[in-house]
Amino acid sequence: MKVVCLPGDGIGPEVMEAAIRVLTPLPIELESHPFGGEAIEKFGDPLPAPTLEACKESTAVLLGAIGLPKYDGAAVRPEQGLISLRGALDVYANLRPSSDGDKVNLLIVRELVGGIYYGRRGRTEDGLVFDTCEYTEPQIERIARRGFELARRRLKKLTAVDKANVLATSRLWRQVIERIKPDYPDVDLEYMLVDNAAMQIARAPEQFDVIVTENMFGDILSDLAAAVTGGLGVAASASLADAGPGIFEPVHGSAPDIAGKGIANPTAMLRSVAMMLEHAFSEEVAARELRQAIDTAIREAPTPDIGGTAGTHEFTDKVIEALSA
Ligand code: NAD
Ligand code: IPM
Ligand code: MN
Repeated sequence: MKVVCLPGDGIGPEVMEAAIRVLTPLPIELESHPFGGEAIEKFGDPLPAPTLEACKESTAVLLGAIGLPKYDGAAVRPEQGLISLRGALDVYANLRPSSDGDKVNLLIVRELVGGIYYGRRGRTEDGLVFDTCEYTEPQIERIARRGFELARRRLKKLTAVDKANVLATSRLWRQVIERIKPDYPDVDLEYMLVDNAAMQIARAPEQFDVIVTENMFGDILSDLAAAVTGGLGVAASASLADAGPGIFEPVHGSAPDIAGKGIANPTAMLRSVAMMLEHAFSEEVAARELRQAIDTAIREAPTPDIGGTAGTHEFTDKVIEALSA
């Protein structure tokens, strides 16, 4: 029962502190390791071997955020550590829920270890630079089945988002989904092109239940879904493999513009902790109690990004107070 904490860069350590304060009373061992920019400074590598080993041996990985402007243009970037870690743990199913507590309750199921992030990239002798979007049928099938299964436990509506009017990989996604669809007769399936999906999430997000999509579309659409349901400060995620530890992390990044000010909203991080309690520890009750305590803090001690004046520490005090009430 060990959780590996990777605080990372920028506001990462600030929101991680909130997570550690909330987790400390529980019978879970916590261990922190260098990752991202911090690890580049110390070891010249954003994912040093001991950090990766600790993650592989853990029950779950909790990540703050990585990345800093100082690495723009650098040969080694913090983001490479995250891409490598996700690949090494094979956490292909990235669950990104967004809810406004009212009519909007959508779940983006983002494929996380394939597509353009992991395809061939390079530069030819004549100066052509390329990133390649690549998918195999098994890669698509496992994430599409996750999408159907999750929809089955919710409102039974699945929207497969792609760019099948242009991309060969998107057409393969549709073929695979058509092949496995008969296994889920109770789920209502629709296809939607990604440009329209962006517009629909902005104008009528309540129409969606579960969205399944490839890696980069999921990256972009999940920030958009966050924006229409309270912002990046509140959007959590879980990245799951078929076996072994998952990674639980906010959707947001290291927010260099507010780092060090003590005003980062820890909601996204704490909701990721709730997802960890649920998915990695099967502690549904503890997860529910934490979610309720977070909602209390959002009402009573909101941070500036959601219209209040509380700092990260004060918000977390409120969460802890609500938990022990
Ligand atoms: P960002 O998500 O860090 O910030 C976008 C905006 O949202 C900023 O205005 C920021 O202040 C605000 N914001 C984000 N989280 C917040 C919080 N908890 N409370 C209040 N406001 C919050 O995106 P960016 O600025 O494009 O990226 C900064 C760095 O983070 C880049 O290096 C990027 O690669 C990295 N990044 C890392 C992760 C990750 O570690 N999983 C995710 C996204 C981006
Ligand atoms: C995210 C981030 C990452 C991604 C970056 C930092 C590699 O934006 O988790 O959404 O693109 O997956
Ligand atoms: Mn992103």
